[in-house]
Amino acid sequence: MTELFRAPKGTYDVIPPFSALWLKVRDALSTPPRNSGYGYIETPIFEDTALFVRGVGESTDVVSKEMYTFEDKGGRSLTLKPEGTAGVLRAMLENRMDRGALPAKVWYTGPHFRYEQPQSGRYRQHTQVGVETIGSSDPALDAEVIWMAHHAQRNILGLKQVRILVNSLGCHECRPDYRQKLVEFLNKCDLDEATRARAEINPLRVLDDKRQVVQDQLKDAPLMPDNLCATCSEHHEKVLGYLDVLGVQYEKAPRLVRGLDYYVRTTFECVHDGLGAQSAIGGGGRYDGLIETLGGPAIGGVGFGLGVDRTCLAVQAEGLKLVDEASAEVFLIPVGQEAITKVVGLAGEIRAAGINVDIAYDGRSIKAAMKSADRSGAKFAVIIGEDEMASSTAVVKNLVDGSQESLAVESLVSVLLDRIK
Ligand code: HAM
Repeated sequence: MTELFRAPKGTYDVIPPFSALWLKVRDALSTPPRNSGYGYIETPIFEDTALFVRGVGESTDVVSKEMYTFEDKGGRSLTLKPEGTAGVLRAMLENRMDRGALPAKVWYTGPHFRYEQPQSGRYRQHTQVGVETIGSSDPALDAEVIWMAHHAQRNILGLKQVRILVNSLGCHECRPDYRQKLVEFLNKCDLDEATRARAEINPLRVLDDKRQVVQDQLKDAPLMPDNLCATCSEHHEKVLGYLDVLGVQYEKAPRLVRGLDYYVRTTFECVHDGLGAQSAIGGGGRYDGLIETLGGPAIGGVGFGLGVDRTCLAVQAEGLKLVDEASAEVFLIPVGQEAITKVVGLAGEIRAAGINVDIAYDGRSIKAAMKSADRSGAKFAVIIGEDEMASSTAVVKNLVDGSQESLAVESLVSVLLDRIK
């Protein structure tokens, strides 16, 4: 026997019935942007490798260790997108959206690729719903972006164990001074070699180190929110004020540092307490300066990326039942050759009326067909045999309470609509 192929390591197939939840979650996460003036954007799965190196930052794990990079037949270096922001901003600039009405606001969804060590909630292909905005430095926009994540997770999906952590990482004016202060502090700590090397490349990342031995030494470390310049401080206060107005329950997280280099000022992460190590179900922030780095004008921007896969795990961890896993509402069962043609036509009519219909195919026995009907989760089985053909009727069996009746085929669509919709 030939061995079956398997999905590549770190990837998984989204198949029924789980796929119903996956679609529901993706839809829920994109509902707030669709209701808040964001237009849909779709960009290529792969981009110039240099875009990510420049946009995301050479020293980040995402760029230095995790990219799926390949050379195409024309000798170009291309990379499967590891994150959404760089590609979407590239597209917005290339299509001159920075020259139209500002801020320009878009949302997107699609797969992203990172060569990570797979574990529960961490995959080599994952799907995000994201938003990006360009052309505004208004703190109300930062608050809008955070509210959209909060609203989708808490109110639309009903997640309870999600917390929103908010921080400010300062700007290109105040962060260098803070960075220097932090480096001086870290130099006095007893850190292992790898951590010391990390401190040299990006000292802020050390603050995020989860290990207790490191955290114990960082108790008195200088923190960014205490070292913001006046402009950043005012921006941060305004963002927090707007979040209060919007009813977003957030936690101040002065040690929150994200894994991508482009953030300035507002950064946030949505963490779920039922997920273990991979607890971030979304994150984002402001990236003033990035648009210039990518060759555009000096305008600000802010956005988020929400993980569809991890949000599904969060929904499951809380035991929320968001989808009806039934694959059909009505199951049609023809008995005998003649009835099959009738049932095929009826299925078309009932489906056209908006009811989800399935059929017992392959001339199955009525016993086997009834089993399929039960398995489908349908509420009604409609049986048409020789007698029904002769009298233009159908037997409608209620699969929930077991009752059954004979109905004129003519009235079938309207009766089913009445009972189901
Ligand atoms: P990120 O935090 O790297 O941000 O990813 C966003 C979300 O995608 C994470 O919070 C997580 O839920 C999910 N995610 C990331 N990597 C994986 C993985 N390996 N497996 C499963 N889920 C994963 C960004 O990508 C930024 N582009 C977000 C952003 C947009 N910031 C501003 N605009």
